[in-house]
Amino acid sequence: MDNGPPPLFLAPMAGVTDLAYRLLARECGADVTVTEFTAASGLTRRNAHSWLKVESDPRESPFIPQIFGGDIDEMVATVMLLQDRADVIDINFGCPAPKVCRNDAGAALLRDPDRVVAMVQACLEVAEVPITVKVRLGTGGGPNTALEVAKRLEAGIKRICVHGRTLRQRYSGTADWQQIREIVEAVDIPVIANGDVVDAATATACLEATGAAGLMIGRGAIGRPTIFHEIKRDLGWSSTPPPWDDDDAAVARLWCWNRYMELSEELYAPRFNKNLKRHAVSFTKGLPGASAMRVKLHQEGDQRALGMMVTHYLEELVRPNPIAA
Ligand SMILES: Cc1cc2nc3c(=O)[nH]c(=O)nc-3n(C[C@H](O)[C@H](O)[C@H](O)COP(=O)(O)O)c2cc1C
Repeated sequence: MDNGPPPLFLAPMAGVTDLAYRLLARECGADVTVTEFTAASGLTRRNAHSWLKVESDPRESPFIPQIFGGDIDEMVATVMLLQDRADVIDINFGCPAPKVCRNDAGAALLRDPDRVVAMVQACLEVAEVPITVKVRLGTGGGPNTALEVAKRLEAGIKRICVHGRTLRQRYSGTADWQQIREIVEAVDIPVIANGDVVDAATATACLEATGAAGLMIGRGAIGRPTIFHEIKRDLGWSSTPPPWDDDDAAVARLWCWNRYMELSEELYAPRFNKNLKRHAVSFTKGLPGASAMRVKLHQEGDQRALGMMVTHYLEELVRPNPIAA
């Protein structure tokens, strides 16, 4: 990837980036995918729900589970448990969720760079696979620490991803790409810029502002996995035609929905795909008549029927009913 276009990462997103969605994003042009964050405490206690979050498939290569925790021994144990299946393990120091930060994990740890460094060093000591980290700029309650953390960890970790906001900001304001640039200039490892990339124009602006080695896209890819293809197409990074008719956004959306359903069926049946309803809402957000359809959608308990309801709705947008039109 060194000499080609910068890689595009699908951001880890709890409740969004399940395995089916990660495989779909890859088919839509994402170069790297990461699981949603998974608690080291759950994995070490063999919690079945936590282990489901770190399921993968040979089509997802490299496979990068993301873990978080406040207890160094638990994090080390988790690295040892995961490394026979993972290609890389990512450690989260970016989560702003109160239930995570209360346990001195996620972004809250950034208030104590010594502890972040000690945790990562301990993981590196046992790791047989590369370790990467994902950080915010800092907590927002004192000086930002991401730069210090990046400098102190660069000798051991493979890559760092920086979301250009503080913990206190959560998702408000705009991502500070300038502070990402300072980190890019200070370290020799690849820095992946994250925050507010939503199309080809913002991808270009972010790369120019930060000089980053790659981009990570989160909210812009919710309900819109085609964003990866669109950026690559619009910036001339790829001429590979997508598996859908590229002239019509509605056709692309329908293709992606059907493919997500197909992958969900293949990967989860007869289990329940807990994210299906959420994706159904995201895929139809802002479209004509979507709110009426969503009322029915929330009443539907059967997954296959729910999926078909969205398929029929999206088909109507592709081929409007001539009588109703
Ligand atoms: C619904 C949702 C869930 C998220 N879950 C995670 C997570 O599990 N791990 C993580 O590192 N970041 C998580 N994030 C943060 C994103 O990975 C990303 O850093 C953030 O959304 C900023 O990027 P964006 O502006 O492209 O959305 C989550 C964000 C959202 C919106």
